[in-house]
Amino acid sequence: MLVAFTSSSTALLAGARAPHSAVSHASAARMTTMATTEAKNAAGNELLLDLNEPVFPEVCEYAGVTLSRYVLEMARANPDKPELNELVSVMTAVERACKTISNLVRRSPMSGLTGLEDGGGSINVQGEEQKKLDLITNTVLKNALKFTGKMGVLASEEEDDPVASQPSDLPGADDYKWNKEVILEESGKYVAVFDPLDGSSNVDANIPTGTIFGIFEEPEGCSVLNKDGEVMDNECLTATMQSGNKLVVGGYCLYSAATEFVMSFGGKTCQGFTLDEQVGEFVLTKPNMQIPARGKPIYSVNEANRWAWDPELTEYITAIQKGEGETGQQYTSRYIGSMVGDVHRTLLYGGIFGYPGDKKNLNGKLRLLYEAAPMAFIVEAAGGAAVSGKGERILDIDPTDDPTGRGVHQRVPVFLGSTDDVAEMRSYYKK
Ligand code: AHG
Ligand code: MN
Ligand code: MN
Repeated sequence: MLVAFTSSSTALLAGARAPHSAVSHASAARMTTMATTEAKNAAGNELLLDLNEPVFPEVCEYAGVTLSRYVLEMARANPDKPELNELVSVMTAVERACKTISNLVRRSPMSGLTGLEDGGGSINVQGEEQKKLDLITNTVLKNALKFTGKMGVLASEEEDDPVASQPSDLPGADDYKWNKEVILEESGKYVAVFDPLDGSSNVDANIPTGTIFGIFEEPEGCSVLNKDGEVMDNECLTATMQSGNKLVVGGYCLYSAATEFVMSFGGKTCQGFTLDEQVGEFVLTKPNMQIPARGKPIYSVNEANRWAWDPELTEYITAIQKGEGETGQQYTSRYIGSMVGDVHRTLLYGGIFGYPGDKKNLNGKLRLLYEAAPMAFIVEAAGGAAVSGKGERILDIDPTDDPTGRGVHQRVPVFLGSTDDVAEMRSYYKK
């Protein structure tokens, strides 16, 4: 079926708001963007790559635009960047892992995968009790990456030592000490960072969880593996950690009533796919997602920490609760405690989500590299804002500047969402 482009598709290219309700496969294709040339994201910030968006002039009305097709056509739409073809297999691995994790989470009450690993006796290096699903989702991602056929160095919050798809496959891997929640895949071209099961404390209550991921280009002159396939030293591995403004792809998969895969490939646009469980494919259902500049009056923050907040933040939240903020509307509170779920709602409805630093935890809780940065990348691609504790853009924060030396596991205060709400929150710090 040939779908002609309409003037409405052109309007969407210019940044008009796409409908978030379910759309037909054909209209989803119509709304997908045409080629653009500006190397800026929807928030007006410069992008690393100036990618053309794929065009879908012909879409099967029954199959729709699948995630696989989107990624393939993204590579095809940028023939001057042949290296993007390497991303196809990486994205296929991420997609397959997300489908598997979705199924595992969905079936966990029946399959015995709820609860703590080893009856609570399994504690990771941070002193956190490990859930069965924390460990399994790491394994799923690990194996998915392994089958890309590329060497993988994997590290996880849940393991004291470096994780490879098979440790023996990686000479030198056992010499490594790595112990947090990041997975690095060395493809010779890209580095991938992951939070495999975000919000796992919620999972046994059948509350939404998610996977967050980001893919960077490997920095010049610093390879995780040397020519003999040996793991380079810690310093070099840390050097692969980059600020979010160097992301090539960022995204998340939400495991909720439906499984939704939201990503920005290149940072210009934000695309939402829904898992069609009957055929096992992600289908484009939310093309060109846009956060309203001022959406529903919602704030999303763990208010139990209020007593340790900055007075400016307390003043702001109190004002919007009372309807004394810029809009005059009384805001309502929504907080799941799963970042993926809270950010997904914020993308769709607008408002503001935050995990601030406070007197007890100066940098809050969320990690820069594999939680805050990919989410900031998506939010900005959708026209929103994402800032840290001093109002600086999250995507500009360099993880290697971490004064605590924790590098890849650096925590940052996070506020993101509708541009006007984020700006209003920051205005309290300037009074
Ligand atoms: P994770 O499960 O990967 O450790 O992350 C949980 C995070 C995030 O999803 C959420 O926004 C935040 O923790 C909630 O923390 P509080 O319970 O302190 O509000
Ligand atoms: Mn998390
Ligand atoms: Mn996690």
